[in-house]
Amino acid sequence: MPSVYIKTYGCQMNERDSEAVAAQLVAKGYSLAATEKTADVILLNTCSVRDMAEQKAIGKMQNIAADVRKNRPDVVLGFMGCMAQSRGKQLIDQLPDVDLVIGTQKFHRTADYLDEIIQGKRAKIVDVAAEQGSEATIKEHILFGKTTTKAITAFVSIMQGCNQYCTFCIVPYTRGEERSRTIPDVVAECRQLVAGGVREITLLGQIVTSYGKRDIPIKDGKSAFVQLLEAVHEIEGLERIRFTSPHPKGYGDDLVEAYGRLPKLCESAHLPVQSGSDRLLKLMHRGYNRERFSGIIEKLRKVQPGMGITTDIIVGFPGETEADFEETMSLSRAIRFDNAYIFKYSPRRDTPAASMPDQVPQDILEARHARLLELINGIAAKGYDERIGRTEQILVEGESKKGPRRMTGRTRCNKIVLFDGSERHRGQLMDVKITHTGSFTLYGDPAIVNLD
Ligand code: SAH
Ligand code: F3S
Repeated sequence: MPSVYIKTYGCQMNERDSEAVAAQLVAKGYSLAATEKTADVILLNTCSVRDMAEQKAIGKMQNIAADVRKNRPDVVLGFMGCMAQSRGKQLIDQLPDVDLVIGTQKFHRTADYLDEIIQGKRAKIVDVAAEQGSEATIKEHILFGKTTTKAITAFVSIMQGCNQYCTFCIVPYTRGEERSRTIPDVVAECRQLVAGGVREITLLGQIVTSYGKRDIPIKDGKSAFVQLLEAVHEIEGLERIRFTSPHPKGYGDDLVEAYGRLPKLCESAHLPVQSGSDRLLKLMHRGYNRERFSGIIEKLRKVQPGMGITTDIIVGFPGETEADFEETMSLSRAIRFDNAYIFKYSPRRDTPAASMPDQVPQDILEARHARLLELINGIAAKGYDERIGRTEQILVEGESKKGPRRMTGRTRCNKIVLFDGSERHRGQLMDVKITHTGSFTLYGDPAIVNLD
């Protein structure tokens, strides 16, 4: 059977989709190639959120075609995911070496399409059609990591798509309408993962606060998403639950309160704010203002004072003035995010913002990005330093890339901790004392805790 190599760009949803496609192919007898150099099938799972992500994947495919095809003409090359969905056949017109283009609702067809191509039944396949029920098509994950050891953490996709249509964002076009899986379906997948050794699950969706909104009625004041959290929380053997990403608009008090009630729900929240300026938030079609966002954070910190809070921010949205940008700076100072992903605005085809007036010149965009990054990094570094001397509970995920005797885990607030340990620690919940910090990393020592 052939071997496959999948390279993933973009978000955790893409990582999860790649895992699912890999699992599907392995179930059919494929092996996983360690590098593209030896693979019979090379798939790039793409991201469209910014132009740079698209250019990276296109450049990579050009290099692969030039390198690999020269010596091994039978290698199958394919694009999957968001850029495949959004550009479709155009990708083959641009890159004639590409054999397969699979959209975001067709991952479950990958093995069939590869069969047809490998057997010579069809030369090129493009499938970017919508498919009803596709949100629940692939549930099998294999638990593979960098080694053959079992995974401790896993992603579970609870919904597909987004109906919010923020004016800068291509996702509603690439991922389609919101479609949610049922609670029993998600719980069954989580149970299976826990039976296989997983101890922490991250529930994934583009806008999880809209989960099940149309299909699952509110019960005892609890939204469908909170009902789902409760159901997953009941799974025995599961230690930790996270989710990403909620949207401030639909962030109800029931979700805030869940952090106080459900001990497995980790004290960390990734809540994208995008801007601190009410004027821009409106132009972005975000559906909340600065006060509402700050109010949610305040409530969360009341329920869990140590909550780790991260966000996404866009700089250089069309029409962003110096005053708007200062509002984002002042919000960042006021909230003191643990970290923020700062994106330079990138015009996306089909989105309203791409044709808005007053696009921000590149040099201003770069300068604002640098200023905000410095502010965010400074706040984050202080937050990390404050943890020195504290004891934190970590879940050990495995070996760190930094060396064989260095293990890595994460705190409940989602901060990475490295410590000197060994394979026997994998999967353990343990207390470590934080001894020093590095860039967005904590270093811990389990032995010191035992001496206390
Ligand atoms: N709802 C998803 C958002 C997906 S896009 C989630 O919360 O995970 C991830 C982030 O990319 C967004 O939060 C936004 O900050 C950024 N982004 C989206 N479109 C962008 C664009 N056109 N230019 C720059 N950044 C963008
Ligand atoms: Fe994109 Fe806004 Fe949805 S950022 S994914 S349209 S909530």
